[in-house]
Amino acid sequence: MRKQIAAANWKMNMSYQDGVKLLDDVLSSKITLTADQQVIFAVPFPYLIMAKSEVAEETNNFIAAQNCHHKEAGAFTGEVSASMLHSVNVRYCIVGHSERRAFFNETNEMLAEKLDSCIKHQITPIFCCGEALEVRESGTQNDYVSRQLEQSLFHLSAEQIRKLIIAYEPIWAIGTGKTASTEQAQEMHAFIRSLLRGKFGSEIANEVPILYGGSVKAGNAKEIFACDDVDGGLVGGASLVADDFIQIIRALK
Ligand code: 13P
Repeated sequence: MRKQIAAANWKMNMSYQDGVKLLDDVLSSKITLTADQQVIFAVPFPYLIMAKSEVAEETNNFIAAQNCHHKEAGAFTGEVSASMLHSVNVRYCIVGHSERRAFFNETNEMLAEKLDSCIKHQITPIFCCGEALEVRESGTQNDYVSRQLEQSLFHLSAEQIRKLIIAYEPIWAIGTGKTASTEQAQEMHAFIRSLLRGKFGSEIANEVPILYGGSVKAGNAKEIFACDDVDGGLVGGASLVADDFIQIIRALK
C-alpha cells in the first residue's frame, strides 16, 4: 500500500510556546499509526529543532520545513538551504506551495532546482501543484497542472521521483472553506498519477503518495481520503487546532 500521510502546514502561525503546546496535545493523543501511515508537521524554521525533539520518540511522526532556497549556499540573506536543513536532521520540505509561487515569485524552473537540492541532501520534497480559480473555470486545469509537473519534475530520474510526495492543492480551495468535491479531487489525483505513469512507468506512479490540500477539515477528511488516488492531506488551518488535526489523522486510510 502507498504511504498515507497527514501533513500539517502551520504556515506563518503559532508562537513558539503555542507550537510546543499544539505538538504536545496532538502527540499525547497517542494515535497508533500503521506501518503505512505517517504524520508530518511542517513548522516555521525557528521551531524545527524543538519539533524534531518533540516527535523523536513517536513512530512514523516527522517534521518538515516549509521551504528552502534553491542554491547550495552563499549571499542570500534570510534564506535557508536544503543542506542546512539536512544538517539539523530535517528530512522533509514543502516545495512550491502556491503561496510561495504567488508572493515570492517562485517559478516552475526554480522549483526544479529546489527539488534537485532537496534530493541531493536526502530531503523528501512535498511538491505542491494546483490551479487558480480562473484556470478551473476555464476548464484548463489539467493542462495547467501537467505543465507544473513537466517543468519541475520531469527532469528527475525514476529513482528520484520515487522519493517524492506530491500535494495537489487547488488554490481556490486554500483557506476558503471551499473544498474540492471528492469527484474533482479524485479526477485530478488520477490525472496526476497518469502523468507519472506515462513518464516514469506504473510501478513508480503507484508508489508516489499524492496528498490533497485545500480546506481539509475534521468533518470532510474521511470522505476525501477515501478516494482511491488520494493518499492523505496537506492541512493548513485545521492543523492548528489539536482536536481537529487528531481527527484528520484518524481519517487516514
Ligand atoms: P487550508 O487547509 O487552510 O485551506 O490550507 C491548505 C494549505 O495551503 C496547506 O498547505
